[in-house]
Amino acid sequence: MKKGVKYVVRKKGMFWPSQEMKKIANITDSKIYEKAAKNPIKFWENLAREGITWEKEWDKAYVEKLPYFQWFRNGKLNFSVNCLDRHLDHGSRVAMIWVPEPVSEKPVKWTYRELYDKVCRFANVLKSNGIRKGDVVSIYLPMIPEALVAMLACTRIGAIHSVVFSAFSTDALRARIEDGNAKIIITSDGYFRRGKPEFLLKKAVKAAKNTTVEKIIVVDRLGKRVRGKKFLDFYTEVELADSYCEPEIVNSQDTMFILYTSGTTGKPKGIVHDTGGYAVQAYWTSKWNFNLNPGDLMWCTADVGWITGHTYAFYGPLLTGATTLIYEGSPDYPDPGRWWEIIEEHKVNVFYTAPTAIRMFMRVNENWIKKHDLSSIRILGTVGEPIDEESWMWYFEKIGGGRCPIIDTWWQTETGGTLINVLPGIGPFVPTVSGKSFPGVTHRIVDDNGKPVKKGKEGFLVQKSPFAPGMLHGVFNNHKKYVDTYWKKFRKYYDTSDGAFIYKGLIRITGRTDDVMKVAGHRLATAELENAIHSHKKVAECAVVPMPDEIRGQVPVAFVVLKRGGGSERLERKIKKFVDQKIGPTARPHKIYFVGDLPKTRSGKIMRRILKALLVNEEPKGLMTLVNPESVEEIRKTISKYGSKK
Ligand code: WT7
Repeated sequence: MKKGVKYVVRKKGMFWPSQEMKKIANITDSKIYEKAAKNPIKFWENLAREGITWEKEWDKAYVEKLPYFQWFRNGKLNFSVNCLDRHLDHGSRVAMIWVPEPVSEKPVKWTYRELYDKVCRFANVLKSNGIRKGDVVSIYLPMIPEALVAMLACTRIGAIHSVVFSAFSTDALRARIEDGNAKIIITSDGYFRRGKPEFLLKKAVKAAKNTTVEKIIVVDRLGKRVRGKKFLDFYTEVELADSYCEPEIVNSQDTMFILYTSGTTGKPKGIVHDTGGYAVQAYWTSKWNFNLNPGDLMWCTADVGWITGHTYAFYGPLLTGATTLIYEGSPDYPDPGRWWEIIEEHKVNVFYTAPTAIRMFMRVNENWIKKHDLSSIRILGTVGEPIDEESWMWYFEKIGGGRCPIIDTWWQTETGGTLINVLPGIGPFVPTVSGKSFPGVTHRIVDDNGKPVKKGKEGFLVQKSPFAPGMLHGVFNNHKKYVDTYWKKFRKYYDTSDGAFIYKGLIRITGRTDDVMKVAGHRLATAELENAIHSHKKVAECAVVPMPDEIRGQVPVAFVVLKRGGGSERLERKIKKFVDQKIGPTARPHKIYFVGDLPKTRSGKIMRRILKALLVNEEPKGLMTLVNPESVEEIRKTISKYGSKK
C-alpha cells in the first residue's frame, strides 16, 4: 500500500487534523461555533447567500410557528440550476462516475455538460407527459445514472420526487404511490446484483395497477424492451426531447421531495423536504464535513432509496461542483476486493459508508484490502448507526492507513443533511463519538420532562429553535403524525427519538429510544414488520424485537402465535417470504419462533422488553406485571431449543 499524505496527528491520546489537513480544509477555525451561535439565523442567511444561487432573495430568513417553520421565505431558486447550470463554465468537469456491477462493463463518466443535457431533455419528457410543478413522481430505480437524471429533472420543473428503494416490494411501492398520488413511475427493467439480473419492472407494473399512475417510463438496463400504451422507453424519449428546458423557479419553502421512512407505527411516513433550506444544508455540510471542492471525488456507498443516497451520493457533491461516484452492485462482488479496487482505480478522495459494511469487511482476509492503493483517500465518513471502538480503529487503520480523519455523522431522514459530527479541519476525532452540532444548530440532552440532564448522563437528544434549514417540513398529508412523532413529547424541541450523552465535551449517540430498529443501517419499525407478519392468514399474534448482531448491528426476530397447529421450518420459510413480498428482503426476520403465548400485561400490552432479554440470555425483569408469567418459561425453552442465532 502506498503511504499517502497524513491528515491526522495524535495528541494527548486523541486524533487531530494535521497541518496538511489544515492547509486544505474549507474550515479550520473553531470559533465558527460561537460565531454561529450568536445569531444562527444571520449565520445561515450568510451561508445561503454564499453557497446557493438565488433568483431572488427571501423576504424573511426564518419564520417559526411551531410545529412548522420556514427558511428563506419567498426566496426564489431552482435546485437543478444549483447542481448543474452554475457549473457549466467548467462543463467538461466530470459530474458523475458510474461503476456497473458486471466487471465486463466499463464505468460511465458524464461531464456536467452531459448531465445537464440529459436532465433538460428528460425534464421535457416529464412535461410533455403532463407533469407540472407540485406533481409527485415516483422513482423506483436502482443505482444507475438515470436515477440522478430523473431526480434532477423533477427539480428542474418543480415536480416532487418520491424515490422508493429498489429492493422494496410491490406492496411497499404501491403504498407509497397511493400516498403520493403519483401519475408517473420511472423504473428500469432491472439491474445486476451479485452477478444476476434482478427484475424490477414486473414489480412496478403490479404496484401501479388500479392507482393514479398513467405512465411508466422504463430505463433499459437489461436489454428488455417494453411495449404497450402505458410504457415509455427512457432513452427513446430523451433523444426525441428538446435539449433545453427552462428551469421552473420555485419558492424556497416549496416541497422538493418526499421520502418515506419508518416510524413507530405500521405505516411509513412521507417526510417532506423543501427546496431552499435543504439546498443550503446539503451544500454546506458537503463543503465542511467532506471538504468537497471542484475536482474532488466522493463515493458515498448508500443507495439512493435512502436519504444518505439523496444528499451525499447525489446532491451534495453536485451542489459543490465536485464529482460523485456511484456503484450499482454488491460490495463483495465478484470478490471482497471490489470496493477497494474501485477506490484505487478512480482515486476516490472521500469515502462515506455505514458501520455495517465496515464490520463485514473486518471479517474478510485483509489481503483483499492490502493489495490496493488507497492513498487517494483524504476523509472517511460513517453514518447510520453507532460505531463501536474496534470497528472505528479498524476503519481508521486499514482503510485510512492511519492517515485520515473519520467523520462520524449523526443525522436522520428527517434532518435532510448531517447535523452532528466533527469537522475535518477542526477535530478531535474520537472513536464512537459523533461530535458537535453543526455550526448554527443546537442540540440538548434532556430528561423525560425536557429538562437538561446532569453532565455526562444519558438522555433524549432534542434540537432547539431555530431548527436547521434542512429539517423536514411535515409528514406528507398527515399533520397529526407530524405533531405526534416530533413535537408532542417536548413541544418546543424537535424530538430526535435518539438517546445521547456528552463524552469529552462531544455528543455520543446511544441509539433509538423508540421501537425503531437499525438493521444494517436501514431503518425499520417493529410495528411495520408486525403488521406484515400479522396479515399472514395463519398468524394470530406476533411480536417483533431487535436482536444484537455482530455485522448488521441489529436483526429482527419474530415471536409468532399461530391460529391453530404448530409451527414448522416450512412455515417459517413461508412467512419470511411473505415479509419479502410485503416490505422487502431488508425486513426479513432473522428467525421466527413459534410460541403458544406472548408475555402480556393486564391491559393486554405485549412486553417486548422481556422478549429482548430472553434473546440475549438475560434474566427478564418485571414479571409480576404479567397476566401470563408462565409464557416466559415456554419462550425461554423455545429459544434454547432452536438457539438464538442461526
Ligand atoms: C437514525 C436515522 C441519515 C443517515 C442515515 C440513516 C441512527 C444515524 C448515526 C450515527 C449513531 C446514527 C439514529 C437516527 N444514526 N447516524 N452517526 N451514530 N446513530 O437515516 O434511516 O433516517 O435513520 O439512524 O438512530 O435516528 P435514517
